Amino acid sequence: MRVFVTRRIPEEFLEPLRAHAEVEVWPEADVPPPPDVLRTKAMDAEGLITLLTERVDRSLLASAPKLRVVANLAVGYNNVDVAAACERGVVVTYTPDVLTEATADLVLLLVLGAARRVREAIALVEENRWRGWAPFDGLGVDLAGKTLGIWGMGRIGAAVARRARSFGMDIVYHNRRPREDPTVRELGARYVSFPELLALSDVLVVLVPYAPELRHRIGAEEIRAMKSGAILIVASRGGIVDEAAVAEALATGHLFAAGFDVYEVEPLPEDSPLRRAPRVLLLPHIGSATEETRAAMARLAVDNVVRVLRGLPPQTPVPE
Ligand code: DGY
Repeated sequence: MRVFVTRRIPEEFLEPLRAHAEVEVWPEADVPPPPDVLRTKAMDAEGLITLLTERVDRSLLASAPKLRVVANLAVGYNNVDVAAACERGVVVTYTPDVLTEATADLVLLLVLGAARRVREAIALVEENRWRGWAPFDGLGVDLAGKTLGIWGMGRIGAAVARRARSFGMDIVYHNRRPREDPTVRELGARYVSFPELLALSDVLVVLVPYAPELRHRIGAEEIRAMKSGAILIVASRGGIVDEAAVAEALATGHLFAAGFDVYEVEPLPEDSPLRRAPRVLLLPHIGSATEETRAAMARLAVDNVVRVLRGLPPQTPVPE
């Protein structure tokens, strides 16, 4: 059996797989295989371990007759055509839970960094422009007593809410449906409609998974519906928020600040309006990037492949 892994990952994680399959690893750590290479490798593979940068679409799946499992090394899986995989009997797995805490930490980093204008503060020191303590320069805003709005209250949303509560914030959230589980109730998180979420949030965190119908769901009009002086954080997938509209709202001052870890196009194009916008903290999609978390993600993805190749159910198939 053959398994193709689309990025170089530490050998120790692949060892359990080598006992069951011939494993080929794309030699680059940060550059994905070109689509034609992926297609060629998939043609005679039983398993693929992919990243969110690889498009596993209907046509790739159609050209991979032996494929039994696609293990996506991410909690998001909008890069995989799950319906097409299902039709072909290909199991798709993802890596939920193991990255929840690391990603929630990073969301808080964006919230704190945006609220306290940390990018400008760091530049002041690094560029040797700091002239000493000043009472009214570089002021941020408090978080205590403010309302954090979460769009997409899943596992990561709940972990963000828990952290934000300890900063003294009130929590509102919006999902397609209210969450009934005790975790969310215990956090005192209040379910609101989407328009209410926009209107009530002092800090709005976008954590909803990407779906084509959500493209630019937060655009100029939605930003105008937010409080003047609000902060917007984008941490699930790019494309849900119109980045040009955010840049414009930062320029006019309607948004106090913004923080991004994910973008409509990654890596962020040189001419992205976000790069020229004031008070924006831009990170390079590092939500789950801790040693422990990436190791756990790799172990889980490998275990999912091993289990499917052995005819067992995977630990974490994507939800139907
Ligand atoms: C994921 O797993 O989907 C994240 O975006 C990676 O940080």
